[in-house]
Amino acid sequence: AALLEPGDVVLVEDPGYLAALQCFAFAGARVVPVPTDDGGLIPEALAELVARERPKALYLVPTFQNPTGRTLDTPRRRAVAELAERHGFWIIEDDPYGELRYDGAAEPWIAGLPAAADRTVLLGSFSKILAPGLRLGFLRAPAALRRACVIVKQSADLHTSTIDQAAAARYLRDADLDAHIGLIRAAYRERRDALLTGLPKALPAGSSWNHPAGGMFLWVGLPDGHDATTLLATAVRHDVAYVPGAPFYATTPDPRTLRMSFTTHNPEEIGEGLRRLANAFSEG
Ligand SMILES: Cc1ncc(COP(=O)(O)O)c(C=O)c1O
Repeated sequence: AALLEPGDVVLVEDPGYLAALQCFAFAGARVVPVPTDDGGLIPEALAELVARERPKALYLVPTFQNPTGRTLDTPRRRAVAELAERHGFWIIEDDPYGELRYDGAAEPWIAGLPAAADRTVLLGSFSKILAPGLRLGFLRAPAALRRACVIVKQSADLHTSTIDQAAAARYLRDADLDAHIGLIRAAYRERRDALLTGLPKALPAGSSWNHPAGGMFLWVGLPDGHDATTLLATAVRHDVAYVPGAPFYATTPDPRTLRMSFTTHNPEEIGEGLRRLANAFSEG
């Protein structure tokens, strides 16, 4: 709301986090999807769309994306930053999952790259690392934009609960958030590995999936001819569920895709879920 005028174009990843699109719809913006591959948003496709659509902003989740678990490498981050600088659009970098890294070294925030430093809004959240029920997040933005954000926030809900903010501030002062993140990282790494180990037996032959280095999700492609939305009903009859991929696409869905989350259940439960899924898929 602070950035957009009615009719402005916002580019988004396809597939992407569709709940964010509501915000753009409220602001009267037109949403245009950008193609992705296993490495996330494709810079060449972005360059073409930027030239054609003259967007006001790009919204993306560059690290352990929802729904795919994909992460943009540093060269792609640079390409995004340089396109934004050259064409003068804003980047909305949504990063609720970045702290949940299980392998490898962190990628730099796009907001930290010199080309994008004065045109990126970086969004963070306590939902995935502390407690989703707190409903506390934060944003980092150039000073000129922050004032507008405060006014928009006031018109939306006056302000976030002061008591909740004070509780979180007290936690950050007295407790060790980094140690807590270390604990959940170790637990989630084990859960991701349990899912990856069991998947080959659970999915139909010819399925593909990625190996996310962090976050909460991985992305599966069933073989041609399978429809993950139809198969969900069979899975639920076997007391297991996943999220079909189709609703995450802004235009043409790939019906073979689905999202699996691996953070809620322990390895034993994940093993049981995969046995149920194997039964469901073999019944098909
Ligand atoms: C990409 C992305 N952004 C934002 C959120 C919501 O975060 P919060 O709980 O801070 O509203 C989610 C949670 O599902 C998400 O996946």
